Amino acid sequence: DRGTLWGGRFADGPDAAMAALSKSTQFDWRLAADDLRGSVAHARALSTAGLLTTSEYEQLTSALRQMIDDLDTPGGVGTDGLEPVAPEETDEDVHGALERILIARVGSDLGGRLRAGRSRNDQIATSVRLYLRRALRALTLDLGEVIGALHAQASENIAVVMPGRTHLQTAQPILLAHHLAAHAWPLVRDLDRICDLDRRLAVSPYGSAALAGTSLGLDPVQVAGDLGLTGGSVPNSIDGTSARDVVAEAAYVLAQIGVDLSRLSEDIILWCTPEFGIAKLADAWSTGSSIMPQKKNPDVAELTRGKAGRLIGNLSGLLATLKALPLAYNRDLQEDKEPVFDGLDQLKILVPAIAGMVGTLTFDADRAEELAPRGFSLATDVADWLVRQRVPFARAHDLAGAVVGYCETRGIELEDLTADELSEIAPEFTPEVLSVLSVHGSVEARDGRGGTAPVRVREQLDELAAAREDL
Ligand code: ARG
Repeated sequence: DRGTLWGGRFADGPDAAMAALSKSTQFDWRLAADDLRGSVAHARALSTAGLLTTSEYEQLTSALRQMIDDLDTPGGVGTDGLEPVAPEETDEDVHGALERILIARVGSDLGGRLRAGRSRNDQIATSVRLYLRRALRALTLDLGEVIGALHAQASENIAVVMPGRTHLQTAQPILLAHHLAAHAWPLVRDLDRICDLDRRLAVSPYGSAALAGTSLGLDPVQVAGDLGLTGGSVPNSIDGTSARDVVAEAAYVLAQIGVDLSRLSEDIILWCTPEFGIAKLADAWSTGSSIMPQKKNPDVAELTRGKAGRLIGNLSGLLATLKALPLAYNRDLQEDKEPVFDGLDQLKILVPAIAGMVGTLTFDADRAEELAPRGFSLATDVADWLVRQRVPFARAHDLAGAVVGYCETRGIELEDLTADELSEIAPEFTPEVLSVLSVHGSVEARDGRGGTAPVRVREQLDELAAAREDL
C-alpha cells in the first residue's frame, strides 16, 4: 500500500510527472471541511445499514469531527501528537489526503471502513455543492453592502438632477438617484439568482457512488438530510456524478455579478473625468500616478472592469470543458473547481471595495444640474407639451426638432429661447411652452410608475430597501 486510494492492481507507482498532473490538493483542499462533513453523514449511513458497529461509528465520527476542528488550527496540527490535518506532497486529492490522515489517527482497520459504498465521484460532487452554498451565501452579504451604498447615495442626493444618456449622448434629464438605483436592481436580481441556484445546489449526489449507485443498502435521503441538503438526494446516480450544470450556473452568476459591477464602474469612471465632473472619488478609494502629480485614478472601478473579463473567461472555460463529455464521470471534471473558486475569490476582494468606493463618492450637484439641460435634453418636453395642446406627435416631433435646429445654428440652448422666437418657428408655440423648459419640471413630469419623478424615485428606493431585506 503506497497510501493512495487505488494501489491494488498496480505494480508501479505513478511517474512523477503523472502525479504532478493528477494532483489537485493545491485547489481542492479548501473543500476539506465539507468533505469531512460528508464523511460524518456517510458514516451514519454505514452504521444505519449495519456496516459499522455503534462503537465504530462513534469512534469514526468523533475522529472526523476532531479533524474538522483541527482544520482551523495553524497547519491543521490541532491536537498534540495526532497526524496534522494538512495535505502532503504525495497526496493526490483532498479525499485521499483526508483518508490518509484519518487512518493515521484511528488505524486502517477502522479508518479503512469509511470508503465503502461511496466513490470520490459522488463525494466530490457533494463537497462542491456544500462549499458553493456557503460561499455564495457569504457573497450575498457582501453584495447587500453594495446595494446599501447605492441606496444611501441615492437617498442623500435625492434632489440632484443630471443628464440621462442613451448612446452616451444627452437624452433627457433624470434624477441621479434614479440612475444609482438602476445599478442596484441588477444586483438585487443577482441575489435572487443565488437564492434560486441554492435550491438546485441543495440536492445530494451521495448514494450515486462511482456512477451506478451502491449495493450496500445505504440511504441517500438520510445523508442528504444530515448535510442540510433540503432538496433530498439525486434521482439518477449517473446524473448525480457527472452533471456540473449547477457549478456552471454558479460561474454564470459570478460572471453576471462581474458584468453588473463593471457597468456601474464604467459610469463612475466617466463621472470622475473633468469632462463629466459630476463625481469625485474619496482618497481612500483611488490611487495616484508615479509620474503625474495631479492624478487621481479610479483603480477600483478599472479593476472591476478587468475582473469582469476574467469572470466571463471562467464561465466560458468551464462550459467548454463540459460540452462534449460522455456520461458518466470523466477526469476532465476535476477542472470544474478552479474557475468557480477563482470567481468567488475575486469577488470576495472586489465587492467590499466597490461598496467602499460607492459609499464614499461625492457628487457635484451644481455641475450635474448645469449639464442636465445641455444638448437640448428638453426637446422631448417641448414635443410632449405640444401633444398636450392636441398637436399630433409626429408634427410635435418635427416642430421640436425645428426648435433644436434653430438653437443649434445660433449657438444657444433651449432655455435661452424667447416666446417671440418660439411663436415665429410655429404658431402652435404659445408663451406657456416656456414653463416646460426646466430640468426640474422635466423630471417631475415623468411621474408614471418606474419614472424619474422625485415622488416615484422615493417610492422606488423604499421598494429597493424592501427587496434587499427580503433576500
Ligand atoms: N479529484 C477529482 C475531481 O475533482 C475527484 C476524483 C475522482 N477521481 C477518479 N479517479 N474518479 O473531480
